[in-house]
Amino acid sequence: MKKTALITGATGGIGGAFAKALEEQGYELILPVRNIAKLSQLSGNFFAKQIDLESLDSFISFFNEIKSVRRHIDLVVLSAGRFAWDNEFETQEIAIEELDKANFQTKKVAVASLREVFGDTLNQTTIIIISSHAAHFDENHPFRAGEEGYVRSMIKVSEFAKRLDKENLFKKVILEEPGRVGTESAKSSFNAQTIGEDLNWEQEMSPETYVQNVLSNIA
Ligand SMILES: NC(=O)c1ccc[n+]([C@@H]2O[C@H](COP(=O)([O-])OP(=O)(O)OC[C@H]3O[C@@H](n4cnc5c(N)ncnc54)[C@H](OP(=O)(O)O)[C@@H]3O)[C@@H](O)[C@H]2O)c1
Repeated sequence: MKKTALITGATGGIGGAFAKALEEQGYELILPVRNIAKLSQLSGNFFAKQIDLESLDSFISFFNEIKSVRRHIDLVVLSAGRFAWDNEFETQEIAIEELDKANFQTKKVAVASLREVFGDTLNQTTIIIISSHAAHFDENHPFRAGEEGYVRSMIKVSEFAKRLDKENLFKKVILEEPGRVGTESAKSSFNAQTIGEDLNWEQEMSPETYVQNVLSNIA
């Protein structure tokens, strides 16, 4: 039987690169997304469903559907999330709330739903949780003032992944805290206005290279 991979954020840069690489490796893909039309880069060997990734009920009913045909999932990649600075929101409170939902809640509810539906088989599942190197920013970081919402959300993601790892519920928990990966959203967020310099993206890691590096460590 084919191996199965569940990916969130597959309509975006990093999640999309995971989907493509795993499809090429022969995985059957399970893709909960907000917008199915954005999956056109894949050849079609996937089962996608439009769901609300911030909602426990949506995830649980989707996973129940999957469980009726698959007893376990081999690999889970939680990449759905939003990369944005506070000044992209009306207030800092809104930035903190919205980035918490996109970056942390989507992962927390995905894991809670996996426990609920696939709890008996999670010891066969490797989970990759995408956080950010921003989780290590401290109060002295020069960009901190504009990054409060993003940094806070990623600190929660990294701490969550570390707690999960200690539980030994999954076969393996991989916490990924990448620096800059050249996705379209990163390119538009890391501009001169926000970081004070223009980056040469030719010298930064592409999503494809980043994903190959991560996958080579879990073979
Ligand atoms: N690229 C980098 O340099 C970098 C570095 C460190 C960490 N990260 C983190 O890695 C994650 C992925 O980054 P990326 O560059 O691939 O971003 P991206 O290209 O903007 O993709 C984000 C993906 O997440 C989905 N998403 C965002 N908010 C969501 C929500 N509230 N509910 C459901 N889905 C949601 C998007 O869905 P739609 O297509 O429907 O919008 C899209 O599929 C982000 O959390 C980002 O902060 C990125």
